[in-house]
Amino acid sequence: MLVLAGLFSVAMCRADEGMWLPSLIGKQIKDMRSKGFRLTAEDIYSINKASLKDAIVLFGRGCTGEVVSPEGLLLTNHHCGYGQIQQHSSLEHDYLTDGFWAMSREEELPNPGLTVSFLVRMEDVTDRMAAGTTGVAEETERRAILEANRKSIEKEASDEGRYSASVESLYYGNQYFLFVYEVFSDVRLVAAPPSSIGKFGGDTDNWMWPRHTGDFSVFRIYADKNNRPAAYSPDNVPYRPKKHFAISTKGVQENDFTFVYGFPGTTREYVTSDFVDYTLNWANPHKIRLRTMRLDIIKAAQEQDAATRIMYASKCASIANAWKKWQGETLGLIRLGTLEKKRSYESQFQQWAAGRPEYADILPRLHGAYAEWLPYAFARDYYNEAFGGVELMKPVALFVKNDFSPVGYETFYKDYAPGIDRAIAKKLMAEFWAHVDPKFVPGDFVAEVERAGSTDAFVDDLFDRSIFVSAESCLPMLSDSTARTTAADDPAVRMYDAFMKLYRSVILPEYKRLDEMIAGLYHIYMRGQMEFEPGKAFYPDANLTLRVAYGKVEGCVPADGVYHRHYTTLDGIIEKDNPEIYDYDIPQQLRDLYATKDYGRWGVWIGSLYTVPVAFLASNHTTGGNSGSPVLNSKGELLGLNFDRTWQSTMSDLEFDPTICRNIAVDIRYVLFVIDKLGGARYLIDEMTLK
Ligand code: ARG
Ligand code: GLU
Repeated sequence: MLVLAGLFSVAMCRADEGMWLPSLIGKQIKDMRSKGFRLTAEDIYSINKASLKDAIVLFGRGCTGEVVSPEGLLLTNHHCGYGQIQQHSSLEHDYLTDGFWAMSREEELPNPGLTVSFLVRMEDVTDRMAAGTTGVAEETERRAILEANRKSIEKEASDEGRYSASVESLYYGNQYFLFVYEVFSDVRLVAAPPSSIGKFGGDTDNWMWPRHTGDFSVFRIYADKNNRPAAYSPDNVPYRPKKHFAISTKGVQENDFTFVYGFPGTTREYVTSDFVDYTLNWANPHKIRLRTMRLDIIKAAQEQDAATRIMYASKCASIANAWKKWQGETLGLIRLGTLEKKRSYESQFQQWAAGRPEYADILPRLHGAYAEWLPYAFARDYYNEAFGGVELMKPVALFVKNDFSPVGYETFYKDYAPGIDRAIAKKLMAEFWAHVDPKFVPGDFVAEVERAGSTDAFVDDLFDRSIFVSAESCLPMLSDSTARTTAADDPAVRMYDAFMKLYRSVILPEYKRLDEMIAGLYHIYMRGQMEFEPGKAFYPDANLTLRVAYGKVEGCVPADGVYHRHYTTLDGIIEKDNPEIYDYDIPQQLRDLYATKDYGRWGVWIGSLYTVPVAFLASNHTTGGNSGSPVLNSKGELLGLNFDRTWQSTMSDLEFDPTICRNIAVDIRYVLFVIDKLGGARYLIDEMTLK
């Protein structure tokens, strides 16, 4: 038995933690190949020849996309293209509800403001950044030199503005890399499934498995006649990429090697127990509670009224997304005992550091800095979540910025219910009052609350008197200079001013100062951790730069007695289908395709079940920003699009657990099935390279 158990644990190769830099992937290649990878480091990243990196883009400011045709066709998630799909939607053309399928190039829709960025090259510039810093002990002076070095490196690399260049710090400034991007701004919407497919499961299924979301949308990159980036012009032509992904239609098997290549946003794997403590015991419980209050009020109003449901759908989704994530994160951190682990690691580190002057006092200094930082971070979180949760402050913020163009206001009032906002503001202001240290509460606010008698009475008074509560009272003021002068004394403007003044003068500067100080200390602590554990392969925290994460297609046991099989199918969609439940009401067309089993070439037999695969789980280390990232097989062919993690995985931003951390991808075969059978846009598939 013992022998067997030993063998088993060796054979059961563990899922992989880590988000690796593409240009340094050579160091991982041996491990990757031992796990089934069939390509070389040069295939992943090369500056001499076309490589997979040339088919990947940073989509907008927080998602990933991949090129899948020689004519610049691009895939990303539905939730990444959501803003663009919404912008083109109106009552006559409701693309959010009905989907959008451009049937020719002429029908593809331009998206002002949207950019996609290709990484041209990356380069270690640690030495160049360090120039002139040796012997400079003063932190502000050191920072100033770094800043100047950064500017000159970026300027040179931008090649007279042809590229966008940025120097990013890795390992808390122990290493610096230059990233040079080519940025395209003519990116057109080509196709999107109806939301009942692209958002199937909505917030109910968000962060969960089993999952059945067809979370994809299709764009096309356009360039000028020389294949260079250009502002939108009808004369632009489809971009001819150096590389596009071939698509595997063979599907996934459990234990297949897989990797994700994309732009993960933020992780903090090397922080001290102080930050974990703050997340677990301060930030998460308070932020979750505040958002629960908001969601309860919104949901109750949505149940009363169909128009409100639609009006608040998108707001609800964004409030609920982080809300749900934080809850999963908290449970995960508790389950893993991350706080205790960090503390015991720190005591070992401290023993090791005792004889090393460079590191001996680094942990006590970090603990001290965090103690100073905590009240500011906590107040800042309350300003963002409580004060920032009062919607009325949005039009007021425009007004205060002297933005009197009606556009922003109209967009705001289109989806605004003052009754909901008033009820929410009462809850949030009462919480603010109860939990924020008096020294961070604006004096004018205190005076007003005392005058009114309670935070509730204050909010009522505010909503009774402010002209910003409705379009009718607000919009006419914008074009009337006398009314504008009067509005400057509106109670909502006064509230905004009072909060923002204290926030900007007292909280933010100190928060920033302490945050920078902590970053400076991490610079040393990070180096210390690397010396303390010389055998460990450290990967840099995510910072929205291009990374490779690898693992395999696999299910897991997220809780005792629960098994997550690694894939879902169209039959599972039909099980969930319910016209009465908004999140599960699929298009009739999909019901019909199911009824006649009209799956075309996308149907597969799984045992005795004839179905279409929909989503799958894999053990790739991912985070926010990896949405839309290509999930690839051992030959670098596209298997699916990453779009989520399971709920039990979300603590991986602080600690990754290979046994239960799983990313969720939509199977490329479901994407193609929807394009082909629902969209009738087979010509798009003809552009792609299917394997
Ligand atoms: N949880 C995924 C992510 O963090 C998807 C979010 C969009 N979907 C939603 N139902 N809100 O971004
Ligand atoms: N949905 C996330 C995104 O928009 C990815 C999920 C995650 O955080 O892993 O990037």
